[in-house]
Amino acid sequence: MQFSVSTTSPESRRSDCLVLFIEEKGQLSATAEAIDKSSGKTISKLIKQGDMDGKTGQSLLLHELAGSKAKRVLLLGTGKAEDCTEGVYEKIIGSLISVINNSGISKLQVSVADIPAKSRDTAWKIRQCAMLMANSEYRFNLPGRKAPAKQKAVEVVFHVDKTEASAARKAMVTGTAISEGMSIARDLGNMPANICTPTYLASQAQAIAKGQRKLKVKVLSEADMKKLKMGSLLSVSAGSKEPAKLIVMEYRGADASQKPIALVGKGVTFDTGGISLKPGAAMDEMKFDMCGAASVLGTMKTLLAMDLPVNVVGIVPATENMPGGQATKPGDVVTSMSGQTIEILNTDAEGRLILCDALTYAGRYKPRYVIDIATLTGAAIIALGKIPSAVMGNNRELIDNLIDCGQQTHDRIWELPLWDDYQDQLKSNFADMANIGGRDAGTITAACFLARFTKKYRWAHLDIAGTAWKSGGEKGATGRPVPLLTQFILSQMKGK
Ligand code: BES
Ligand code: ZN
Ligand code: MN
Repeated sequence: MQFSVSTTSPESRRSDCLVLFIEEKGQLSATAEAIDKSSGKTISKLIKQGDMDGKTGQSLLLHELAGSKAKRVLLLGTGKAEDCTEGVYEKIIGSLISVINNSGISKLQVSVADIPAKSRDTAWKIRQCAMLMANSEYRFNLPGRKAPAKQKAVEVVFHVDKTEASAARKAMVTGTAISEGMSIARDLGNMPANICTPTYLASQAQAIAKGQRKLKVKVLSEADMKKLKMGSLLSVSAGSKEPAKLIVMEYRGADASQKPIALVGKGVTFDTGGISLKPGAAMDEMKFDMCGAASVLGTMKTLLAMDLPVNVVGIVPATENMPGGQATKPGDVVTSMSGQTIEILNTDAEGRLILCDALTYAGRYKPRYVIDIATLTGAAIIALGKIPSAVMGNNRELIDNLIDCGQQTHDRIWELPLWDDYQDQLKSNFADMANIGGRDAGTITAACFLARFTKKYRWAHLDIAGTAWKSGGEKGATGRPVPLLTQFILSQMKGK
């Protein structure tokens, strides 16, 4: 997909396809009005006849419309203006994408400003549209395999008002950059776990940084982690032949004096549950247990593509969680880097065990904010389903800002109460804490565990168990929450 911005009026151009948006029972947009007039009221007639009533996602492709310079005119329903939320906007773009895929259209003229998305400006509409369209072209491909036959190249021209041109161009770049990051996150998530090992993740981080002056990657080995006393993280990799890696990605876009934002992503490249072995059904999906890590690598790619003046450090503890002769056993007690001891009552609650040491390590950067991203609990799906990710944390302003960023990118999150009352569930008779808190409120007690390691800075935790991938016929990684994380970083650019 090739995007560009034009300030000419769309109907004046000769083109392959001109898109007109039709509101349900609403007025025609200025462009639609003009085409309607020059075509002898064809569009009004089609609406009157009931061929197009403007319902969300409805489409009608007209060929060689009299009086129009475009080969095709596509009418797309937007529904009622007052109902046009971010989700409806996404549906409208979705039906535009499916018309493109099912036709010979190779060049498109579109004024997304005509879509009546509530309280969203043209730049927002262009960014979302570019992101969604570019993302729709994603295909998974095994490394070293010939890529599937190239889809046809499609050119999209966004028509905007002169006054909006520069904001529109910026938005186009942002949308494309986010889709690039999502594509990396999806590729890493989809990659089978026999290829995507901790070592592979580390090499992909290095590949992203190759030739990039602003991004430095360090990879810590198990010996390094031992020196750092990361006994909790190492207890998870103990059962695996694949060595754990701690991947550190430092993006320096601003002055060294500016405190970085730290992104900490769970990178369990396969989660069997360990000695507390998982049941077999759908266990293949536990290759997606590194989607938090994938979103960190993806966001780094997006930062590079946008060349943002900000400092961000990505920290990825990467390991397999396997049963084996050396594996951690239920009842084992380990000492974390923070010095706190942990009784491991269930080896399947491994995400928090690797994150706690990575979070302690993050403290070394004196970060402005720390956000961890993890496919942490199945309970998050029970609580919230697969629509929003769960958010919790120790700083009101940070959480509120993240919720707002999720709304803006339609990569939504919802807060659960991280109240101290839940901490009691982590009591252990043999250590400072247990690694599980029983059946009740599993997503919250997992966050309670992490909260004990994040007291020194402003922190939020995203549980993406329900949102990082889809199951069933469309099984695959989604690339979330790269849009949310990017928006958050963008929100930090203004002032501060
Ligand atoms: N990676 C899983 C969480 C998960 C499970 C995400 C299913 C998405 C779908 C995590 O490591 C895990 O196993 N969590 C346990 C925690 C429990 C043992 C306290 C869970 O959710 O069952
Ligand atoms: Zn896991
Ligand atoms: Mn697990």
